[in-house]
Amino acid sequence: MVAKTMEDLVSLCKRRGFLFQSNDIYGGIKGLYDYGPMGVEFKNNLKQAWWKSMVYERDDTEGLDASILSSPKVLKQSGHEDTFTDPLVDCRSCKSRWRADQLDNNQCPQCKSKDLTKPRPFNLMFKTAIGPVDDGSSFAYLRPETCQQIFTNFKNILDSTSRSIPFGIAQIGKAFRNEITPRNFIFRVREFEQMELEFFVQPGTDDDWHKYWVNKRIDWWIEQGIKKENLKKIEVDEKELAHYSKKTVDINYLFPHGEEELEGIANRTDFDLGSHTKNQHEFQIRSNVMKNSDSTTKLAVQNLEEKNWYIPYVIEPSAGVDRGVLAILNEAYQEEDIDKDNKRIVLSLKSHLSPIKAAIIPLKKNNEQLVNLSKEIKSNLQKLGLGRVVLENSGNIGKNYRRHDEIGTPICLTVDFQTLEDKSVTVRDRDTMKQERVSIEKLSEYYKKYFN
Ligand code: GAP
Repeated sequence: MVAKTMEDLVSLCKRRGFLFQSNDIYGGIKGLYDYGPMGVEFKNNLKQAWWKSMVYERDDTEGLDASILSSPKVLKQSGHEDTFTDPLVDCRSCKSRWRADQLDNNQCPQCKSKDLTKPRPFNLMFKTAIGPVDDGSSFAYLRPETCQQIFTNFKNILDSTSRSIPFGIAQIGKAFRNEITPRNFIFRVREFEQMELEFFVQPGTDDDWHKYWVNKRIDWWIEQGIKKENLKKIEVDEKELAHYSKKTVDINYLFPHGEEELEGIANRTDFDLGSHTKNQHEFQIRSNVMKNSDSTTKLAVQNLEEKNWYIPYVIEPSAGVDRGVLAILNEAYQEEDIDKDNKRIVLSLKSHLSPIKAAIIPLKKNNEQLVNLSKEIKSNLQKLGLGRVVLENSGNIGKNYRRHDEIGTPICLTVDFQTLEDKSVTVRDRDTMKQERVSIEKLSEYYKKYFN
């Protein structure tokens, strides 16, 4: 097996329709990517796996899908207006701009000049006008993280469900950051998706819950096909902690470009609810929050034994969908020698993540009987609701196998002339390339077992 590089992944993604540079036909925009036919299925499957584990399989969480456009008041109170910055430097020689903390030897990566300006803070939030008059008086931010609207909806969700502490609110959605130097394919982009859970707990129980979530999240990534040895738990240095965090553990992954953060699990204490609550003086808020004279709602819960009201602490597992996609693609990508002269690329994805679950291939594309039977099998398997099944009616079995190996389709079903005689199809397994005959009658059961 040959070592894979980021270029291998980028090339596969473009060739097989996982990812394209956004606005490509107009020259592209840096830091933006579009998910193609295979990419959208794969990404949806990953998000679904997260939702299943964070919402459906638990009895202490609820879901949310909040708006992306956010009031400046929310992002003032969260600290983003004042502190969500990266240090920006200009190169005086070639006029390029860089993130000061990512430079080697304080040198411009483009022209190698050392004639750089002093770093100045650059706010990463995108702004847009709200309403028909764009005079700067009414604007909103595109949210830089999905969680802030979870905090602002805390009371709505408490009041509309029967939840009590501890409980969590999960959300998956887009976030936007005007990164100075987006790079490494979809690792650092300007528009991306996050999967975030805000888990509200009683102060004092937060350390244990934090440990619980770190372990739970590592196990989940392993279930998605990431090798344990490629994941690392890194406790963020106290000096590097975000302003809201008492403790953060990053789950780092060995990406093709190096080891970097895949997910962060932060103990955000009572910072967020404390900062967004009305009547802050009524509560013993432990973190250093900004005074709030705009909020209309108290974001507190009552301790039923002691009858006092308090602001819960929050544990936040926050994962990047796009980084997850990149990490899993990297794990699954393999180049294999089939024999002395032939090799193949195969994506050994876990079957629940595969964009296509099965391909049905009639041996001859113009044979009506074979094609009709294939269509019927496709339709029956599709109705089982386990994901996308496709009919491949190009008549070239070898090319179809190669394509489906590269997009990670777990099984290919070939309908041939024997099928017309004995009502069985050839099932080819992606990983072993072994083939077996399965009767059409038993196909649904076989298929269901395969994917469970
Ligand atoms: N609410 C906490 C928060 O947003 P973060 O560490 O800034 O924390 C969480 O982001 C996750 O979002 C990261 O671990 C990463 O997976 C993803 N992420 C952050 N910035 C990103 C970017 N520019 N491009 C792609 N993914 C990003």
